[in-house]
Amino acid sequence: MMLSSCCDMKIQLYYLLMNRMLFAALVCWGALTSAFSMSRTEGYTPPAEVVVPNMKDLRPEDKPYLKSITLTGHLTTTGNSDFRQLRDLSFQVERVDLRRAVCSAIPDNAFHSRPYLRSVILPQGVTKIGSQAFFGCRRLERIVIPTSVEEIGEGAFNGCTLLREVVFEGAPPRKIGKFAFNGVPVSSLESLSDNGLLADEAAIIPIPAVVEHGKGSPLLTTAIGRIVAAPALHNEAAHARRILKERAGLELLKGRAEIRLELDTTLRGDEAYTLNVDRRGVCIKGRTAAGVFYGLMTFEQLLVSHPRRLQPIYVADAPRTKIREFMVDPCRTFIPFEELKRFVVEMARYKMNALHLHLVDDQAWRIEIKKYPRLLALSSTRPSMDDMLYSSPGFYTQDEMKELVAFAAKYHVMVIPEIEMPGHEVAAIHAYPQLTPGAKRVPVRTTCGVSNELLNPASEFTYEFLFNVFDELAEVFPAPYVHLGGDEAGIPPLDCWTNDSSCVALKKRLGIKTEDGSENWRLQKYMFDRVIAHLRDKLGKTPMFWYETDFKEIQPGCVVFAWRHGLTNAAIDAAIRNKAKIMLCPGEHCYLDYPMQRGDMPEVNWGMPVTTLKASYDLEPSWGRDADFEQNNLYGVAGTLWSECINTPERIYYQAYPRGLALAEAGWSLRTRRNYDDFLRRLKIIQNDMMRRGISVSLQY
Ligand code: ACM
Repeated sequence: MMLSSCCDMKIQLYYLLMNRMLFAALVCWGALTSAFSMSRTEGYTPPAEVVVPNMKDLRPEDKPYLKSITLTGHLTTTGNSDFRQLRDLSFQVERVDLRRAVCSAIPDNAFHSRPYLRSVILPQGVTKIGSQAFFGCRRLERIVIPTSVEEIGEGAFNGCTLLREVVFEGAPPRKIGKFAFNGVPVSSLESLSDNGLLADEAAIIPIPAVVEHGKGSPLLTTAIGRIVAAPALHNEAAHARRILKERAGLELLKGRAEIRLELDTTLRGDEAYTLNVDRRGVCIKGRTAAGVFYGLMTFEQLLVSHPRRLQPIYVADAPRTKIREFMVDPCRTFIPFEELKRFVVEMARYKMNALHLHLVDDQAWRIEIKKYPRLLALSSTRPSMDDMLYSSPGFYTQDEMKELVAFAAKYHVMVIPEIEMPGHEVAAIHAYPQLTPGAKRVPVRTTCGVSNELLNPASEFTYEFLFNVFDELAEVFPAPYVHLGGDEAGIPPLDCWTNDSSCVALKKRLGIKTEDGSENWRLQKYMFDRVIAHLRDKLGKTPMFWYETDFKEIQPGCVVFAWRHGLTNAAIDAAIRNKAKIMLCPGEHCYLDYPMQRGDMPEVNWGMPVTTLKASYDLEPSWGRDADFEQNNLYGVAGTLWSECINTPERIYYQAYPRGLALAEAGWSLRTRRNYDDFLRRLKIIQNDMMRRGISVSLQY
């Protein structure tokens, strides 16, 4: 026994080493090839500096290399303007000289979150610097504000943490927007900003089910002397300490009032809580630790407006839906690991409880699968994206994902992985061509849109691959759900299976005889059935997927996402008919990668419609159906953040908020408690708090 296990261990170690070496070799090769793929023209060295009238005068392939750009023409400010091109196409630019250019206003978001920008010389005669124009330009070191500037917009230089020199040629303008200089290391500047004086009213988002304002003496937060919590609530007790420190400035607790955190099994619903504040302290009860955590999130929002004195208040609350999620897309633009954590912290404040990671797509494969090292070695760099010709490399190790899962659990956020099938798999096919019919060799995709290369449902290698991937991920992600994609598998859908000999043979073997276009969908059902059986029977997971109308039979108990514009009724009917659950993320309300207004970011995109804040708020989860639907089929609400056009983490926040707050309220709050005007009132207070903390929030509503 001993000998054989020792021998096994050696063999495993050997394989591990071989795997590592193979992986290292492949990574080097992948890095080299992707670096070479950046130099598009053989023997051509792009210039580092240019002087041109406008961005359109530059060669597209030069834009992602230039370090220094001088523009001298009349600058355009809307659509695919000079500013949009400077920001999105010359991502790496360090110096921008506009002194000879003509332009009356630097537009809103002009240089939003440009990570390499060190210096900008503004045009003479410019009168306005737009809101968030230089938000989060973390390397910006110096700026001279010409005398002509009359207005600096909200958050204009927020988060420019190296901006040590701001020179006003004349007196500072009278109009300086909220939080314009928050986070800038010149302390005198912050006092120039309108500090967005906190309103006197409380603002809770999402609005709780019951709020009763009491009479009597307030609780002075300085009077809080201890936190009393059962050992099972030690994580929540730590949050309580953090909140008192961050919101009320309390390092040491030394008064007689207390914060009590308790479990109460009489409450209905796992996430239900009550919160009571009076002169003697704060008592939060939850049916589970999650409920107590949500009570604390409400308590924290009360402190935003009243960090020193809280009037007596009683809140009783529970969510309307089970899952309130954001989906993020690190494929099209990689999201650094630490940024995922930061995103979790913010979403948890609004009682969102799931982070859905879209880990795989045509443009990149982002998750380590130990059995298939070529995935990361060959396919974890998105070479370019539409007109943005720079690459986006990066991937998550399984250890990182385990760390994220543990971190998110402290915020009661579960992490749901998504592995697409049968479409949106070009990156995997690039690494393992035998995954697609005819083992076609395809490059990683560099444009948005839909690819015709699909996984081969007739090849056993496909199932072996998927099962191995899901088996490894089951060790990493303990969430009871796995998302299988299932959307947009080619144009026309699934056509890559129509004439392929292996697919034709499989259809014959399965007795699929139709020739009306439904035959490929039946093949998809065969494929999904096999994968779902593996997920359910072997791994104990509930499958999720994007709803497509032609995919008629949804396996009972699965969760489908209603995402397509105008097809929510069809998705709901199918879910009811098939005894499936439904997540609502219809494009009209929930696609947060769309601009919030015309002209808002992303100004240039693949033809996205607008999703206004009001449209997001108007999402009604019952979708006009009866209580039966709400009880038996409705699962929750999702905001999607596809990142074809989102090229920095700060811009994910910009797209996510404030619409994500509207969706958080749609998913959590009772219909009878919701009111858009009241939401807007509360939003102003929460939004100010977010901006003050350096979170980018779109103000274009
Ligand atoms: C999707 O937007 N393709 C689900």
